[in-house]
Amino acid sequence: MIFPVLLCGGSGTRLWPLSRKSYPKQFADVVGEESLFQASARRFTGEGFAAPLVVTGDPFRFIVTEQLDEIGLDPAGILIEPEGRNTAPAAAAAALFALAQDEDAMILLVPSDHAISQPGLFRDAVLAGASAAEAGQIVTFGIAPTRAETGYGWLETGAEQDGVSKLERFIEKPDAETAEKLFSDGRYLWNAGVFLARASVLVEAFRTHAPAILDQVAAAMQAAQGDLGFTRIDPELWAQVEDQSIDYAVMEKAPNLSAVRFDGHWTDLGGWESVWLESDRDEDGNAVSDHATALDCEGSLLRAEAADQELIGIGLKNVVAVAMRDAVMVADMSQAQNVKQAVKVLKERG
Ligand code: GDD
Ligand code: MG
Repeated sequence: MIFPVLLCGGSGTRLWPLSRKSYPKQFADVVGEESLFQASARRFTGEGFAAPLVVTGDPFRFIVTEQLDEIGLDPAGILIEPEGRNTAPAAAAAALFALAQDEDAMILLVPSDHAISQPGLFRDAVLAGASAAEAGQIVTFGIAPTRAETGYGWLETGAEQDGVSKLERFIEKPDAETAEKLFSDGRYLWNAGVFLARASVLVEAFRTHAPAILDQVAAAMQAAQGDLGFTRIDPELWAQVEDQSIDYAVMEKAPNLSAVRFDGHWTDLGGWESVWLESDRDEDGNAVSDHATALDCEGSLLRAEAADQELIGIGLKNVVAVAMRDAVMVADMSQAQNVKQAVKVLKERG
């Protein structure tokens, strides 16, 4: 049995104003009818999968239980982080939690900000990696790259056997020049950000490559308190844990990495441009929500949130316009990533 560990802690400011600190993108219906979190949870259910373990922050605990309830899932546990310390501590906490329940537990770390249009195919890829994981490997999942992306990790794969390749190198978020090289080389894959391993193997990897994080997380977990079905990690001890991603802390260093290639459609909905690409578009390339209208527009995303709003675009080209009740954002598509900066400015203004 594989325990899916749903990681949902990042605030996702690149999808502002839809994604807020109090209501991050993974809980919103970004594309389609269900939230990204619900889609991620449902993706890994059925034969071979146990109930999921969720690692999240205190403000989201009821959104999590409500959204799981809506899709008929009963979580195996909900770990509450007093504050986000990035994916390394979250993963270490999940591995220790799973290990305490079952020393043979196999866990699947699952981000909750992805869109995968053929969930069955991804599930098959995960099951294809299970025997390598059983044998002590940390299994990553590789996507054929379509651009020199600097926001992802890259995988250099080696010899392949039964669909599982040995991983020669894991390169997290390369600079633009390196990304260009990796892309044109043609042998490299994007890291999907999903990892499969025995909980004990992951804990050992932390012990070897990030011992301080493991010790600090273990102490904070030891002092955790049960609270009506939630497990609250100790805030004082957690505050001492280093803020680090699992990609830098463990994956760039571990020798026992493998990769399974996933050839279906995958995207990290990291910004408005990828949301536009993932949405249904009209013949002029516009993605237009309910309560929005595009007149003579091209390649634009127009999105109104509320039933009593109207958003009209006239003669727009490659523009993103998102109208929420209390905030409106209009940007050139090519600059939409910079909403991150806007959020910073707003924060400073208080
Ligand atoms: N619980 C918890 N706590 N979850 C977190 C935290 C945290 O402190 N920080 C991030 N997460 C969750 C996010 O919500 C997201 O679902 C997932 O962990 C991955 O975090 P991101 O911050 O989105 O990572 P990334 O996209 O920059 O990079 C990772 O994913 C890429 C693919 O999407 C890396 O694994 C890259 O190598 C990979 O290519
Ligand atoms: Mg991401």
